[in-house]
Amino acid sequence: YNIPTPTNEPGNTYAPGTKERETLKAELERQAGLEVEIPVIINGEEIKTDTVKQVVMPHDHKHVLATYSQAGEKELRDAVEAAMAAKESWSNMPWQHRASIFLKAADLISGPYRDVINAATMLGQSKTAYQTEIDAAQELADFLRFGVDYANQIYQMQPDSMKNIWNRLEYRALDGFVLAISPFNFTAIGGNLPSAPAIMGNVVVWKPATTAILSNYYFMRILEEAGLPKGVINFVPSRGSQVSEVVLTDPRMSGFHFTGSTSVFQTIWKTVGENITNYKSYPRLVGETGGKDFVFAHETAQADKVVAALVRGAFEYQGQKCSAASRAYIPASMWEEVKNGVVEETAKLKVGDVRDFRNFMGAVIDKPAFDSITSYIDYAADSEEAEIIAGGTYDDSVGYFIQPTVIVTTNPNFKTMTEEIFGPVLTIYVYENDQLEETLTSVDTASMYALTGAIFAQDREAIMHLERRLSGAAGNFYINDKPTGAVINQQPFGGSRGSGTNDKAGSVFNMIRWTSPRIIKENF
Ligand code: SER
Repeated sequence: YNIPTPTNEPGNTYAPGTKERETLKAELERQAGLEVEIPVIINGEEIKTDTVKQVVMPHDHKHVLATYSQAGEKELRDAVEAAMAAKESWSNMPWQHRASIFLKAADLISGPYRDVINAATMLGQSKTAYQTEIDAAQELADFLRFGVDYANQIYQMQPDSMKNIWNRLEYRALDGFVLAISPFNFTAIGGNLPSAPAIMGNVVVWKPATTAILSNYYFMRILEEAGLPKGVINFVPSRGSQVSEVVLTDPRMSGFHFTGSTSVFQTIWKTVGENITNYKSYPRLVGETGGKDFVFAHETAQADKVVAALVRGAFEYQGQKCSAASRAYIPASMWEEVKNGVVEETAKLKVGDVRDFRNFMGAVIDKPAFDSITSYIDYAADSEEAEIIAGGTYDDSVGYFIQPTVIVTTNPNFKTMTEEIFGPVLTIYVYENDQLEETLTSVDTASMYALTGAIFAQDREAIMHLERRLSGAAGNFYINDKPTGAVINQQPFGGSRGSGTNDKAGSVFNMIRWTSPRIIKENF
């Protein structure tokens, strides 16, 4: 079958006076007036449990947006059984029919439900309209359409045959079921983690982040409307520790698709290791984890471009992207200009309720995030090795608001230069122009991560040198651009070291992990 050739979903601007802005605003108002009751969904059935939790808006935390039923041990066991019961018919379903379901879901997201999933992401995850559009509308639709295309490419890879011999590769689903655990920061990632294995014929138990549960629930409903058979993806908001005990260690768990923190992924890997003799097949572990992403300016860089990359890279979506620029290295010769630019541009950024479209930043996701991020700001404020040159203030009385904060340090290994903060905090180290090599060593070794990084330079020799010298420091490496905003099918996303297994979300590399091929040789 020829799959319709995918192209990246175009985005709306939501500029003042546009029809898109009006309909999105109306949907925001509608959803803010609801209190959606989000169930557990197992085998297509909506289940309410005794443990009901509230979902609030991060930018207005007294406003209850929804409640959700938390799955317990029984529901988690039922979800595994439902997945296994759906397995045979799903994995044997003709490929074009599996594909159709996800292509239809992509069209529903980018068409009739665009406002619904965007508004849920804005209200539930405190994303601005622009940041939501590139995530919940564009990237989510792209993940599904290109995912189908990647699967199709994989299925066409066939071995040579000879006279009297026909060799065929059969792309089977993994042996058991896949467990997907998704993060709050991208609705698109929430959608992709269960969908990528399902496109390849797998059945899935999906634990969404409870802080992204509203948009993730709407996505689940869209999949159902698109015709996803019961039990193929089971939606189980739950506690991580219980999922680990009940689902992760089930002998039929044969694939794990994760985006989240490095420490959680490491704990999961250990648990899998400790149980390795119990599994029927070796589970495939695919994880995209933390980052401490850098911007390195060479003395030949254009200062205004560096400033723009720092401000957007560090503060879009409150710095809660694993790709966010969070440490920068600026040559002394350029410092004055970059400093003035960063201070000036940061001062212009408005922070507040995302329903006011003039705001550039919303709130950080919840109270634990607020406390953790502000502890880094306090640490810098109290340190003799650091100076806060922009922001540094915060207030959680209405929402979890933190002003975009820029720290300058004299120590390239300062705490905020090396640890992932996951918030609107950028730390800058100013290096002497004649200390290029020492500084590059710092870029490469200051953190355990290797997710994204950006270099700025105009001189070709310098670009070549930096690209080579930092080859291990990032899986997504940008030259004269910010380190965020990878686009599906253009910049496959992921890193190595502490940042994950580098299986590249949004690519054939990722999709190929969800098949267990069988070679069939037939003699004539
Ligand atoms: N793909 C996102 C980006 O590149 C991060 O997950 O910003």
